[in-house]
Amino acid sequence: MKFGYFDDANREYVITTPRTPLPWINYLGCNEFFSLISNTCGGYSFYKDAKLLRLTRYRYNDMPLDCNGKYFYIKEGDTLWNPGWKPTQTELDSYECRHGIGYSKFSGSKNGLKADILSFVPLKDTCEISRLTLTNESGADKTFSVFSYVEWCLWNADDDMKNFQRNFSTGEVEVVGSTIYHKTEYRERRNHYAIYSVNAPITAFDTSRDAFIGAYHSPANPEAVLAGKLTGSIASGWSPVAAHQLDVTLKAGESKDFIFVLGYVENPEDEKWESHQVINKTRAIALLAKYDTDAKVDAAFAELKEYWNGLLSKYTVESSNDKVNRMVNIWNQYQCMVTFNMSRSASYYESGIGRGMGFRDSCQDLLGFVHLIPDRARERIIDIASTQFQDGSAYHQYQPLTKKGNSDIGSGFNDDPLWLIAGTSAYIRETGDMTILDEMVPFDNDESVAQPLMEHLKRSFDYIVNHKGPHKLPLIGRADWNDCLNLNCHSTQPGESFQTFGPSEGPVAESVFIGGMFVKYGLEYAELCDLQGKDQEAARARAEVEEMRKVLLSDAGWDGDWFVRAYDSYGNKVGGKECEEGQIYIEPQGFCVLAGVGVETGQAQKALDSVKERLDTQYGIMILQPAYTVYHEELGEVSSYPPGYKENAGIFCHNNPWVSIAETVIGRGDRAFEVYRKTCPAYTEEISEIHRTEPYIYCQMVAGRDAKFHGEGKNSWLTGTAAWTFVNISQYILGVYPTHQGLSVDPCVPSDFGDFKVTRKFREGTYHISIRKADGIQKGVKELVVDGQKVDGHIIPYVKGKTEYQVEVVMG
Ligand code: GLC
Ligand code: GLC
Repeated sequence: MKFGYFDDANREYVITTPRTPLPWINYLGCNEFFSLISNTCGGYSFYKDAKLLRLTRYRYNDMPLDCNGKYFYIKEGDTLWNPGWKPTQTELDSYECRHGIGYSKFSGSKNGLKADILSFVPLKDTCEISRLTLTNESGADKTFSVFSYVEWCLWNADDDMKNFQRNFSTGEVEVVGSTIYHKTEYRERRNHYAIYSVNAPITAFDTSRDAFIGAYHSPANPEAVLAGKLTGSIASGWSPVAAHQLDVTLKAGESKDFIFVLGYVENPEDEKWESHQVINKTRAIALLAKYDTDAKVDAAFAELKEYWNGLLSKYTVESSNDKVNRMVNIWNQYQCMVTFNMSRSASYYESGIGRGMGFRDSCQDLLGFVHLIPDRARERIIDIASTQFQDGSAYHQYQPLTKKGNSDIGSGFNDDPLWLIAGTSAYIRETGDMTILDEMVPFDNDESVAQPLMEHLKRSFDYIVNHKGPHKLPLIGRADWNDCLNLNCHSTQPGESFQTFGPSEGPVAESVFIGGMFVKYGLEYAELCDLQGKDQEAARARAEVEEMRKVLLSDAGWDGDWFVRAYDSYGNKVGGKECEEGQIYIEPQGFCVLAGVGVETGQAQKALDSVKERLDTQYGIMILQPAYTVYHEELGEVSSYPPGYKENAGIFCHNNPWVSIAETVIGRGDRAFEVYRKTCPAYTEEISEIHRTEPYIYCQMVAGRDAKFHGEGKNSWLTGTAAWTFVNISQYILGVYPTHQGLSVDPCVPSDFGDFKVTRKFREGTYHISIRKADGIQKGVKELVVDGQKVDGHIIPYVKGKTEYQVEVVMG
C-alpha cells in the first residue's frame, strides 16, 4: 500500500495523506542552516550544530507524535485549520505534501480557501523561508486570520530539556514591527540571536508561550488563536515563542503571498548592541531585505534548484528500470548529501544531542558524497583526521561546531582508523588531488604535533598491524563496525553504557571483519604509497595484507562454509557452527569477499551461498542467525536487543550492499541486484504499510524474521546505507568506478537488465558511456571504445584537461 507517489520529473515525492504510518520528513539546507520538516509541518531548525545552536524546540517522544514545528493556523469564523493538517488535525478538503530536493511544499484547502507553503533554506543565507500563498477559490469574498507559530529553543538543546531551574528565568525577546527577536543569553556570552519575521504589517503578536497556547491548552488549540486575537505578550523567562497574526481579506479568486523568514544572526563582539540592552539589528534587517518580495524568493528558489541540477548531473543513468533511474539519479544521491551533512546527529531517531559526527560514519558517508562536492569532502577528511590520536586510534565522534573529538559515546573502536584510509583513497581516486596527503594535520587537534595526512594513514594502517590477537587477527577493541559487539565490556548492571563501560581493549578478543577491512583498505593504502613513490612502504603494506589474507582463509578466519565473525575475550568463536546462537554473521561475508578474499579458493562463493541460505529474507539480509534469545555477557549489546531488532538479527541495511558488492566481485549480477532490490526504497514503496518509514530514502534497520513486526523499518535517513548503496549501484552494479588511472567501466547487472547509459562527470571530463549487452550476460567487458579508439581492459585512460569522452562498451 502506498501513501503517495514519485513525481520524477519534478524530483519530488508526493504524499497524498497526512496520515502516513510515521512522520515522513525532509531536510532543508545544504551548508550551515538546517531544518527538519515533516509531512505535517513538524520539525525544528538549527545552525551548524543540532545540539549547541538549536533555534526551535522539538519534543522527541511526544504525544501525539511530532507535534511541534513551524505551524500556520488559519481561522475563518469558527473553523480553525492548518495547511499541513497538524496540529489541529482539522479534516481538510484537500491535502498534499511534496518533499523535494532541499525544499518541501504543502498544500491544504478548507471551505474554498487554499493555502500553499513553500519552505526552503536559500543557498547563501542562514535562514529558512516559508512562503505562504493564500487563494480564495470560493465564489465569495473571505475574511480570516492567519497565525504563525514557532517555539524557541534556548540554544543548547541538551540543556534546554534538562536545566529548568535556570532556563525558566533566562528567556528574552524583543519585537520591532513584524520581526520577533529571540535573544536569550545574548546579554552575556552569546553573540547571536534568532529572528522570525513576515514581510507584511501584522495585526498582533505573541512571544510568551503561556499567552499564546495557554496553560491548559496545547498547539492543537492555542488559546489566543481560538480567541482570534494575539495578546502582544513579551516573554520574560519561561518559554518564549514567536507568533504573528495577519488579518486577511481576499476577494473571490484573489490570491496573496506572505513571506516568513526564520533566521540566525551573528554579530561581531564590538557590534553587539544598538544601545543599552537593545540588540544590534542591522544584520537582521539586511537579511530580511534579501527576501522581502516574491521575485527575490523566486530567484533564491531557482538558484537552489539550479545548484541541485548541477550536483545531480554528476552521475546519471538511463536504463529501462524506472526504479533504478529514480534512486540513482535523485534520491540516493540526495540522501548521501544529507548523511554527509548530518552524520548521525539529527533525525527523527537521532535527537541531535546524542551523537555528533561519527569518525567511521563520516568517513563512510564520504564514499557516496565525494563526487558531488569534492572540496567539502576534502575539508571533512582533514577535520576527521585532526581528531585522530598519535597511535592511530580515534575518538569515535566529534562535535560539528567545535570540531573537537570527544569520548561521550566511547572510543577505541578498532575499525575506526581504517575508515580514514577508505575516505581519503576515495577522495584521491575521484579528484586526482594528491596534495591532500601533504597537508599538515594535527593529532587530537593539537597543532604542535601535526604531521602530513599520509602519516595519519600510515598510523591507521599500523594500528591494526600492532594490535593483533592470538590468531593474528585484529583486536576488536571496544567493538568494530558492529557497535554492539562489545567483547571486552562484560556489563552486568542496568544503565551501564555498552559503549563506555569496562575496558575498551583486551588482548584476546579479535575481529575477522576488521581483517577483511584491512585487506581492502591496506591495498588502497599501498596504492597511495605507489603514487608517492614509496616503494618499500608499499611492499611492506602488501606483505602485511597477504599475511592477513592467509589468516582469514585459514581455520582461524574460516568456519567451513563461511567466515568466522570474531573471537570473544575467552578466545571462543563468535559466528561459527559451534555457537548455539549467532552462528553466522553477515559482515565478514560481505566485506571479506568485496575485498577479494577467497575468490580464487572458492570460499568467497561458498560464503555468499551461506548468506543466501541462512540470512536472506524477502525484506533483506539479516545481520546474524540464529538470533540471540538470551543475554550473553561476553558479547555485549548485540544480545541485549530482542531477537530480530537492530544488531540482534535485524536487517541492517548498511551491510546489505556489502553483500551485493561481493556478488558483483564474483560476477553474479542477478543475485547482486536481488540483494539491491530488497531494501531499495523505490521497491519497498509498494509495502509502505509494512515498511512504514519514508519510501524515498533508506532506513538503518528493518526488523528481521525473528521480530514481531518483520519488515518494519526504523531509524530512517541517517545511515551509512545511503553511501554504501550508492557505491554499490553506481560503481559495482552499473560499474562506473573511479580509479587512480581513470574511470573504470565494468558493470555487473542482471541477465535481463538490457542496454543502458551512464553520464559521469569525473575530474574535468564528462563521460557519455553507453553499455550494450546481450540477454543472459551479467558481467564482463568484451569491448571498450573511447572516442572511436579501441582500448584494452576496462579503464578509460584519464587525459588531463579533456572535457568530453564518448564511450561505447560491449559486455560479454
Ligand atoms: C549505527 C552506527 C554505525 C554502526 C552501525 C552498526 O548505524 O551509526 O556507526 O556501524 O550502527 O552498529
Ligand atoms: C547503539 C545502537 C547502535 C548504534 C550505537 C551508537 O548501540 O544499537 O546501532 O550504532 O548505539 O552509539
